[in-house]
Amino acid sequence: MPEKTARDITFVTCTAPVNIAVIKYWGKRDNDLILPVNSSLSVTLHQDQLKSTTTVACSAHFKEDRIWLNGKEENINQPRLQSCLKEIRRLVRKRRSDGDTSTDVLSLSHKVHICSENNFPTAAGLASSAAGYACLVYTLSRLLGVEGELSAIARQGSGSACRSMYGGFVQWHMGMQADGKDSVAEQVEPESHWPELRILILVVSAERKPVGSTAGMQTSVETSSLLKHRAQAVVSTRMDEMILAIRQRDFSTFGELTMRDSNQFHAICLDTYPPIFYLNDVSRRIISLVHRYNHHYRETRVAYTFDAGPNAVIYTLQQHVSEFVQVVTHFFPPETNGGEFLKGLPVGSVSLSDEL
Ligand code: DP6
Repeated sequence: MPEKTARDITFVTCTAPVNIAVIKYWGKRDNDLILPVNSSLSVTLHQDQLKSTTTVACSAHFKEDRIWLNGKEENINQPRLQSCLKEIRRLVRKRRSDGDTSTDVLSLSHKVHICSENNFPTAAGLASSAAGYACLVYTLSRLLGVEGELSAIARQGSGSACRSMYGGFVQWHMGMQADGKDSVAEQVEPESHWPELRILILVVSAERKPVGSTAGMQTSVETSSLLKHRAQAVVSTRMDEMILAIRQRDFSTFGELTMRDSNQFHAICLDTYPPIFYLNDVSRRIISLVHRYNHHYRETRVAYTFDAGPNAVIYTLQQHVSEFVQVVTHFFPPETNGGEFLKGLPVGSVSLSDEL
């Protein structure tokens, strides 16, 4: 519920977690509306792990909309931010024209001040924009009292953000309509469906990625024939198989599909011209380690996936966490000063050195 301060400022604070895709989104068919060339599927982390926290305040005293990101003021006129603000205000107008004035304490002419923080490094390939935009849209909707297809609004901030609007296993349907109304996220199964599933983040580097997702995927759309093949001939079947594996809690199939999809995404990056390199030597050593580990047990017990950066995200089941973490720390002894920001994550978050 919105709170009010003595100086007539109404505000709401919300948090939204990061999501990690197991079927990747890479490529847009419409850059303005952020409509993807293929559907994707992700797992949303718990609220108390990697997350964005956003406060939106609203007051008749505010002269203009403003935004602060991790304590630093940013340009509010970025088109994606403007799209989200415009769409939420459109929903408010629609609600009022439908005759609902129940939350009319806030005038539409009131400006907003937005303050957002991540508890992990921004733009290090850890899906910070996903949590950030999901949180912004959700917080604005609570402040202004609107409901509706909020994932379609978060999508216009950052594509992957639409999936962070839900917990558990979430599919982003690419949709068919030109206006993007059917390009929305949907929960496939809630978080409670697979309680043994665990996610470990192996931090290879917390630096900003050299090529951002938005620019990288645009070059891939323009130059990679593998991207077209994937969108036309791979994702649809893989999506059905993945949803079945999740429904049946079949880790072996889930893990193999996850690794194959990550590998195909990075193959598209190499097929892009000029090529994009997100993985580094440490990432590749982690890939080999996971395959050697699984081979040892003759079953897929752990699976890796990499987004637009070198950090590995590992999916596994609770019963394998401690052994796999021991194996990782044996081959990648943790730095004494590394991994500070990962305090509070579940067992087994490990910081790896780039020099290895
Ligand atoms: C590799 O959602 O960050 O993480 O829509 O341009 O903001 P924009 O891109 P973004 O791309 C995420 C790409 C990915 C894969 C994924 O999360 O599905």
